Amino acid sequence: MAPPGTVIASRNDIHYVDGGQLFVSAEPARIGTVVGSSVAVCLWDRRRRSGGLAHFTRPFTGDRSQATADYGNVATAGLVNSLMQLGSQVENLEAQVIGGAVSAETDVPEVAHENVRVATAVLRRKRVRIVSQDVGGSVGRKIAFDLASGHVAIIKVRELRHADWWTGVEIAPPDFARLREIVKERSGISLGEQKHAMAAARVNKRMRALGLRDLRDYLAVVEEDRSGQEIVFLLDAISTNVTSFFREPAHFDKLGRVVADWRREGHTRFRIWSAACSTGEEPYTIAVTLKEAGVGSGDDVRILGTDLSTAVLGTAARASFSGRSVENIPVALRDKYFQLQKHSSGDLYVARQQLRELVTVRRLNLSRTPFPMRGPFDVVFCRNVMIYFELDVRTRLINEIFRLLRPGGYLMVGHSESLVGIRHGFRTCEASVFQKP
Ligand SMILES: C[S@@+](CC[C@H](N)C(=O)[O-])C[C@H]1O[C@@H](n2cnc3c(N)ncnc32)[C@H](O)[C@@H]1O
Repeated sequence: MAPPGTVIASRNDIHYVDGGQLFVSAEPARIGTVVGSSVAVCLWDRRRRSGGLAHFTRPFTGDRSQATADYGNVATAGLVNSLMQLGSQVENLEAQVIGGAVSAETDVPEVAHENVRVATAVLRRKRVRIVSQDVGGSVGRKIAFDLASGHVAIIKVRELRHADWWTGVEIAPPDFARLREIVKERSGISLGEQKHAMAAARVNKRMRALGLRDLRDYLAVVEEDRSGQEIVFLLDAISTNVTSFFREPAHFDKLGRVVADWRREGHTRFRIWSAACSTGEEPYTIAVTLKEAGVGSGDDVRILGTDLSTAVLGTAARASFSGRSVENIPVALRDKYFQLQKHSSGDLYVARQQLRELVTVRRLNLSRTPFPMRGPFDVVFCRNVMIYFELDVRTRLINEIFRLLRPGGYLMVGHSESLVGIRHGFRTCEASVFQKP
């Protein structure tokens, strides 16, 4: 972040501030920025006609343990402190918070919400009056903050769908078609037209890291890379990894009940597979559920978590989760199965050994059948991943899971998913739960 008082760029009479930057001025000035899911905090001293603007966003790396609220804390607190250093009194300060829009395509609404939450929490803590909030929705805002009047003008709004407007990437339709082909062929993920902007934004990040400006050059790198590493980066960038502990909790109630029944019937061997496990919340919820169902050291238990994305698998393998990520776990269970570690970047909850020894994570592409595992599995969680696949890939996947389940075993799919249109041998137990006869 640039030191307070730094003029980031001046065009005509307006000081432009980019994401991660802060600008304060002791004199009347105009400050401009563009916010999407990021947030601009505009602070004005009514008496002195001075003020400043901080623009920040929480990073979303797909790795939740790294996504801390520190950016927002530093930016917002830094802005307030800078103005106080310029002689402002806190009771004369007025804050306006703008941004935090959610684009349907980016599918990480918690980043936008968290940006707004952090900004307002810090302002309240510092006892700064928030006079207006223009937050949320699905539009990006281009703003100009006038320190002479304290007025924040929204000078342009645009649907976040047009991510190229924000990111500076223009993807021509033929290039997008080629990108879609590569992604579909390598992952089964179907990038619909509506994903154009999301893909543009995510691929752009990777292109910037490689110093490339043209998507065609980037796609050539992907195709010519014999190590296969670049396709891994590309698929990491494209996949949506949103997950949480006890997501769609009815499935875990069901799992707990059937495992308890099987144990009463004398079963001691349990094999559960979390296909598309993302950062690990799902397999670790399964582990907690099994423990709570009475599974113990006399049982032979393995939980397999697989995903395509190496980035998320890294987090799953560390089995350490941020304080925010464990919020869905009842406190008693959290303290029983996770150990709190305090770090300067925030609290981490690390799964205790009794859970860790049950879970193994591996990379597996669900669009490439047959799978190498031998099975048979008792329960397969294949949730919130089929939505990205077209019918042919879904059909092959479901039939492969059917093959790997034992008779009487269960398949759980996401609540918004179904097996409609797929020829399969499962019987439907209840919504989103299927059993192999
Ligand atoms: C939205 S998350 C779902 C996580 C978890 N199952 C849940 O319901 O909370 C989707 C996951 O599917 C993974 N994925 C996408 N395409 C895949 C593929 N072809 N093979 C395996 N995993 C894939 C993504 O990397 C991502 O982690």
